[in-house]
Amino acid sequence: MEEVKSKNALRNWLIFGVTVVAVFLLGMLASSVTQRRAEAQFTYKPTVEITQWEPRNEVWGKNFPLEFSSYYETADTTFSSKYNGGATIDMLEVDPRLVVLWAGYGFAKDYNQGRGHVHAVEDIWNTLRTGGPTGPDDGPMPATCWTCKGPDVPRLMNEIGVAEFYKGKWAAKGGEIHNPIGCLDCHDAESMELRISRPALIEAFERNGKDIKEATHQEMRSLVCAQCHVEYYFDKKKIEGVPYLTLPWDKGQSAEQMEAYYDSIDFKDWTHTLSKAPMLKAQHPGYEVYLTGIHAERGVSCADCHMPYKTVGGQKFTDHKIQSPLNNVQNSCQVCHREDSEELKKNVYDRQDKIIENRDKLEMLIVRAHVEAKLAWELGATEVQMADILQDIRHSQWRWDYAAASHGGSFHSPVEIGRVISTGLVIAQEGRLKLARLLAELGHNKPVEYPDIATKAKAQKFIGLDMDKLNSDKQTFKKTLLPKWIKMKEAREATWTIKYN
Ligand code: HEC
Ligand code: HEC
Ligand code: HEC
Ligand code: HEC
Repeated sequence: MEEVKSKNALRNWLIFGVTVVAVFLLGMLASSVTQRRAEAQFTYKPTVEITQWEPRNEVWGKNFPLEFSSYYETADTTFSSKYNGGATIDMLEVDPRLVVLWAGYGFAKDYNQGRGHVHAVEDIWNTLRTGGPTGPDDGPMPATCWTCKGPDVPRLMNEIGVAEFYKGKWAAKGGEIHNPIGCLDCHDAESMELRISRPALIEAFERNGKDIKEATHQEMRSLVCAQCHVEYYFDKKKIEGVPYLTLPWDKGQSAEQMEAYYDSIDFKDWTHTLSKAPMLKAQHPGYEVYLTGIHAERGVSCADCHMPYKTVGGQKFTDHKIQSPLNNVQNSCQVCHREDSEELKKNVYDRQDKIIENRDKLEMLIVRAHVEAKLAWELGATEVQMADILQDIRHSQWRWDYAAASHGGSFHSPVEIGRVISTGLVIAQEGRLKLARLLAELGHNKPVEYPDIATKAKAQKFIGLDMDKLNSDKQTFKKTLLPKWIKMKEAREATWTIKYN
């Protein structure tokens, strides 16, 4: 009897003990849940009211200080990797052959490596490509060039309409676009959901019978980038007098398919000064190239590598310091890969080195082709004799540029970029064979001398650019018109009151 009693007591004590522990754990869980909820509420408790077309990143920043302060770190220009990073690097100085490849086009005047998003507007003010406009109807570039520069773009498109936005000179909209790439470009102000703010991407989907609203959440984490990091051209036939921003995706997104599209509509970006070839300028088909790589195939998005999660003071959020992932391998790569940081960087550099080895050779061949074609014209070649050759130059340089301008492409999709460069090499050599035959026919039966383009200055002189004038026009613009644009912005924004909750 005595034994049974003590057994029961022991059992009761055990039940009591287990219950105490269980209640304690449940309490802990509940407290952690409410704490998280409080955290979440803290994060999303709006301090100010953000209206649907608010372009000022600082105003959004009042509600989302962590995202804003990390976004603002894109101002940092200190990081350089082997080939990329956020520093200001004069690419024409690094590689003067680019000047010859782009002879007759704005990029031969000035081309710097891309920097962080916060710099987007000041960089387009400063580049010689936008010239030195003196008033709203002056300058070499159309208003369309503002499209990828920041959140005043969706604001203004909403106010005046899309076609009206693209209309006129770049300088005509200079007083309107001021806030650099930011919140409104990627987010809906009310729901904070990711949103496509640029019509060209929506329209390209529509022409292919797709509705971008049906994209998955993971796809949206790349599509927000594809609003700008894509190939595009200005369609001047869609609406009379409007260079309408259009993505050339109707036949597909590979180098060959976009080239076939451009050929079918007889489109050229410019006529090359030396060879007179009808050229294409690849813009930055970053998204298209990414889609062909292993990471995209495995469902990894741009944001996974360029906007990884970050924790500050116990709060987890999306790091808005969009930059080279090599400045943050731990969060960008090591969440999926267990190799150490140096090994992963080496993997990136290996791919880039190998691609760039052949890209360099292709570049040299195309420089030669332009110079040889110039000589052929001088020796009296006819349009008919040159037609095929000029197509080869167009097609090989398009492939070179598709590879070079798809920033990050050598890592995003090394096999595809390697393939595109190989086809470029073949076409360039085909063209040069035809050129050699033609030159011989015209009485020139020896190699054509390679120009002395050892520096940017020499190369710009070789193609006949008046750099002094370009520089002084730019200085005048910065002293006269630009201050007016800044005053217009200040006056406009002074009338928008910020409503605190
Ligand atoms: C698997 C990770 C990964 C994914 C996914 C990815 N990137 Fe990258 N990206 C990189 C790496 C690594 C580099 C090379 C950085 C370097 O060389 O410093 C790079 C380079 C870049 C660069 C040039 C950076 C610079 O400093 O100039 C841009 C722009 C870029 N990526 C945009 C994108 C876009 C847009 C997408 C989606 C369409 C994307 N990336 C998807 C890892 C990724
Ligand atoms: C280039 C596009 C882009 C820009 C610009 C951008 N965001 Fe985001 N933002 C994202 C992406 C991608 C996510 C991740 C969304 C997801 O997966 O649901 C995100 C997530 C967020 C979230 C959700 C919480 C979190 O941290 O994950 C908030 C809040 C946010 N962003 C605020 C901002 C603010 C404020 C700005 C301007 C200072 C801004 N974003 C600019 C792309 C952008
Ligand atoms: C509204 C247009 C726009 C959107 C949206 C956009 N970008 Fe960019 N991006 C640019 C421009 C323009 C630059 C070059 C800015 C400069 O050099 O001043 C740039 C530069 C970059 C760089 C180079 C930064 C550096 O420090 O080297 C990276 C990386 C990049 N973008 C990745 C992305 C990713 C990833 C997304 C999507 C999450 C994205 N971008 C969305 C327009 C955009
Ligand atoms: C969200 C997960 C994820 C992230 C983030 C990620 N990767 Fe990957 N990576 C993968 C997957 C999945 C594969 C395909 C291999 C497989 O399926 O086993 C891959 C493949 C690779 C490969 C082999 C590709 C080839 O060319 O054959 C390299 C190199 C690589 N990743 C490097 C990186 C680097 C560097 C980063 C950071 C900038 C990174 N990855 C970020 C998931 C990721």
